[in-house]
Amino acid sequence: MFESLSTPAPDKIIQLIGLFAADPRPDKVDLGVGVYRAPDGRTPIMRAVKEAEKRVWDAQETKAYVGFAGDPAFHAAMRQLILGDAVPMDRVAACATPGGTGAVRQILEMTREVTPEARIWISDPSWPNHAVIVDHLGLSRRSYRYYDAATGGIDRDGMYTDLADAKPGDLILLHGCCHNPTGADLLRDDWARVAQLCAQTGAIPFIDMAYQGFGDGLEEDAAGTRLLAAQLPECLIAASGSKNFGLYRDRVGIALAVTSGGAARDAAAEQLVAMNRKAYSFPPDHGARIVDVIVSDEALLADWAGELADMRVSMQANRKALADELRAAMGSDRFGFLASHKGMFSLCGITPEQAVELREGHGVYIVEDGRVNVAGLTPSNIPIVAKAMAAVLR
Ligand code: LMR
Repeated sequence: MFESLSTPAPDKIIQLIGLFAADPRPDKVDLGVGVYRAPDGRTPIMRAVKEAEKRVWDAQETKAYVGFAGDPAFHAAMRQLILGDAVPMDRVAACATPGGTGAVRQILEMTREVTPEARIWISDPSWPNHAVIVDHLGLSRRSYRYYDAATGGIDRDGMYTDLADAKPGDLILLHGCCHNPTGADLLRDDWARVAQLCAQTGAIPFIDMAYQGFGDGLEEDAAGTRLLAAQLPECLIAASGSKNFGLYRDRVGIALAVTSGGAARDAAAEQLVAMNRKAYSFPPDHGARIVDVIVSDEALLADWAGELADMRVSMQANRKALADELRAAMGSDRFGFLASHKGMFSLCGITPEQAVELREGHGVYIVEDGRVNVAGLTPSNIPIVAKAMAAVLR
């Protein structure tokens, strides 16, 4: 059996982790995988997480199964963080998943089960794994124009023209905030227009919320999602606690289905549970419980939100410092857009060949599509990165 297996195409993001680890150069710089790094290069365990883990350790008396949908207290905590009071909670079905990717997968599995003819509209570009999962499930995939490389902003005309072709039941996959890989986010007017477009076409928004709190703030980053949830009869959300709680390896995710309520809500909840059962039975609980402990304790919540704000400010400072350094190195404001992008990533117009040159010639690791993780920048490596980028772009 195994002799006949073909080797799957490598994931360009994950591949970089191994390449970076094997590079012996002491001044190498990792701007690859989307993991937050403090200025000292570490990915810290957040203070509130440490404290919540202690409390769980003290109080927990069993590791028996929780349930196929996970812990209802975790659902409530995440619903509140993401949706606030945008919709009555009895319209929302929820199901814990292994990470945000697990939620993307379960929502698409549910779509295939319920409306296999639905087409999944994905921004060009998007997180590469979106297309990989859609294709793996055999769902039909469509692309909509999104990023305007010339301005570093959004190609609005292209996006709305493409999405006007959506049909009833199609899913429009949107990034709730901190668009991955571009860093170019929708503005409030865009979200309102997307809501209008979904109402006209009957398409359903499917929001991937992987970086809430990394852009402008916890509330601000959820504004677009809340607007869609409030204005439309249905929307789907895949959310992650990997980044904003720093719980990467604990795999904290949730699938939310905002329904018209009543029987529709119950049906969505049951479908999500059935999807979990078929895939892995029970979702992981440890990280979800940490989130629940933090969100339900006023002091821990405030401490967590404060530390998250510090992380956000540090990434914004890195963006500005890199833009300034590139301005000096290149004598042009070509990279001014970096400072206005949101979250961890920016697409910086570097070709795959130039990305290889950056890596091999300068020890600067970025994804081959030109995506830079600004959280990997530090005051000491910013001049090295700017010099290397200027050299490969010359
Ligand atoms: C990323 O985009 O770097 C992260 O979301 C990690 C991943 O799984 O790709």
